[in-house]
Amino acid sequence: MTQEVKLTAKPGEVEFPKGLEGIIARESTKSFVDGQKGWLIYHGFTIEELCKNSTFEEVSYLLLHDKLPTKAELDAFKGELKQYREIPDGVYDLIASVARYNVHPMAILRTAVSALALYDDEADDASWDAQERKALKLIARMATISAAIGRARGDLEFVHPRSDLGHAANFLYMLLGEEPDDLLERVMDVILILHADHGCNASTFTSIVIASSQSDLYSAVTGGIGSLKGPLHGGANERAMAMLDEIGEPEEAERKTLDKIAKKEKIMGFGHRVYKAYDPRAAMLKGYADEITKRAGTEKWLRMAEIIERVMIEKLGEKGIFPNVDFYSGVVMSSMGIERALFTPIFATARVSGWVAHVLEQLADNRIFRPRFIYTGPMEEKYIPLEERS
Ligand code: COA
Repeated sequence: MTQEVKLTAKPGEVEFPKGLEGIIARESTKSFVDGQKGWLIYHGFTIEELCKNSTFEEVSYLLLHDKLPTKAELDAFKGELKQYREIPDGVYDLIASVARYNVHPMAILRTAVSALALYDDEADDASWDAQERKALKLIARMATISAAIGRARGDLEFVHPRSDLGHAANFLYMLLGEEPDDLLERVMDVILILHADHGCNASTFTSIVIASSQSDLYSAVTGGIGSLKGPLHGGANERAMAMLDEIGEPEEAERKTLDKIAKKEKIMGFGHRVYKAYDPRAAMLKGYADEITKRAGTEKWLRMAEIIERVMIEKLGEKGIFPNVDFYSGVVMSSMGIERALFTPIFATARVSGWVAHVLEQLADNRIFRPRFIYTGPMEEKYIPLEERS
């Protein structure tokens, strides 16, 4: 379908949805976000139901295959993920060599995932079997890389993956160096489930745009990481926690939030392009924050967060500004002993499932993405030789 569109205009003359807001990129069966009702659904299942009953592995299977697995299918899927957990020595060396510098973990993650392709003989194999294997390798290895980055930043020995633990427990084991108890494992699983997919968000869109040129899966996921890194997308969780640190005490939370609102500063962890109601992911995480902060003795952060939320909803709730997933994830992960700079890599460790699922969906019915710009520049400039220009 080709549409007649005006392609040249004076600046501001043609109206169009900035940020492609409301534009349909393609059909998808993966996830549905109803921003007015505050719903998030993965292939027919509410996020609440999945967080209560499922695991990250099962949710990844659901996103990839559009159905819940049977027990045998899930066992086989988990077995494959376990088999792919270990990363090449060269990638460990790369992480170790850069982590001591002041490099953001997302920059290391982006480079390390890109480097994974160099060690994979089938990186450019476009057969469906190879694409599916690479999808699983990326899901499994992103966790190992994120944990290794955390270890290297703390100047700690790498902890290699174990195959007797589930994905969430193994991730915490590799990161923190000890097996998590049931509560920590469950909360990590919930964090991964909640972040696994979210419709046509910026990083998923980036991934499918890259894949649409028939580039490889590693490039698509590397691009997704680059997009997620930004503070308007995945990077907001880290900034939200930095804001709590800056506010310092619950007694200061109301005044300082009102100050920021008066100065028209954006409060990280609030607002969303799609949700104009309470983000259901924020509600799920808030549900765990009580128990986790009590256990860690970090109730102060939760008290501050609740005051900021109240003030924000009182002042900006009418505009549809509510806490998003990034607001409470910081409080919860900090209370689990995870450093702030790793929040976004953990988001990527979960979102990789969505990225690869959408890339495979794109490839099954591909057309290269090629939107247009409205050209608002001049049409007939005269070329003046360099030496004559003033
Ligand atoms: N704090 C204060 N005001 C906010 C706000 C926030 N976090 N988010 C949006 N607003 C205000 C805007 O300033 C704007 O006000 P105006 O009508 O007076 O101009 C209005 O609400 C609409 O916001 P807009 O910037 O158009 O929303 P968007 O759809 O372009 O952007 C985000 C969505 C997520 C980029 C934006 O809400 C934001 O920057 N939030 C903080 C970063 C964040 O938490 N990102 C993670 C998303 S999961």
